[in-house]
Amino acid sequence: MRKQRDDGYGIVAICLHWLIAALVLGLVALGFAMRRAGIDPALQFSLYQWHKSFGLLALSLAGLRLLLWLAAGRVAPDPDLGIIERRASTATHLLLGLLCLLVPLAGWAVASTTTLNIPTFLFNIVVIPPLPMARSVDAEGFWSWVHATTAYTLLGLAALHSAAALFHHLVRREGVLMRMLRRRAVEPAPPPANEGRER
Ligand code: HEM
Ligand code: HEM
Repeated sequence: MRKQRDDGYGIVAICLHWLIAALVLGLVALGFAMRRAGIDPALQFSLYQWHKSFGLLALSLAGLRLLLWLAAGRVAPDPDLGIIERRASTATHLLLGLLCLLVPLAGWAVASTTTLNIPTFLFNIVVIPPLPMARSVDAEGFWSWVHATTAYTLLGLAALHSAAALFHHLVRREGVLMRMLRRRAVEPAPPPANEGRER
């Protein structure tokens, strides 16, 4: 991965961050709700399909963010933070980025190993093929456990991460949250070579 940059977040990184965050939070709620007992089977089928579709969308956006990190480098932590806070922030961001890939991949593994053999209809438009994995009750049970455990770990970490962002904004009055809300300032273009000369 390329070294860190210190020029702040651009519009693409900001849009990706908030889109992925909204998807992850919605998907945890949907995943939890669709597994409840006593739910109408037709509604449950539909909720599973929406869950898988938005989950694959989250996976694509998280993949795009990884490519952005690889191509342009990650943004260095806010210079106002102390050394321990900077390390904690970097480690949390890397772990969050990794979990945003692992959770949907594990979900895709559940859909690929289930013996129910239900296709995944992406937004009712195309069928997404399963991953090349053997179907069995044991494999489904394992991936289901990995998917649920990593999803709730991601939720817990995201809660800590948001609390830290709000603490820096509301209590310490530092600019950490604003870095993720406002596009970085564009450097003013240097004046043309002959500007200001007497005619
Ligand atoms: C960031 C993306 C995702 C998040 C946060 C997420 C979250 C969750 C959660 C919280 C549950 C309920 C777990 C439980 O209480 O047992 C769940 C279940 C499930 N998810 Fe996801 N999910 C994501 C992506 C996906 C994807 C991409 C797929 C498939 C293509 C998928 C397939 C499933 C399936 C099949 C279940 C039911 C598992 C079972 O019956 O044990 N998920 N998900
Ligand atoms: C599931 C939800 C979330 C995930 C997975 C997530 C993930 C991340 C990741 C990976 C970064 C590193 C920068 C980047 O995107 O390249 C980041 C930065 C950031 N996030 Fe989140 N985030 C989530 C929710 C939130 C929420 C709810 C808030 C605000 C209350 C927030 C505030 C921030 C801020 C301020 C930064 C920039 C920190 C800095 O470098 O100065 N995030 N987040």
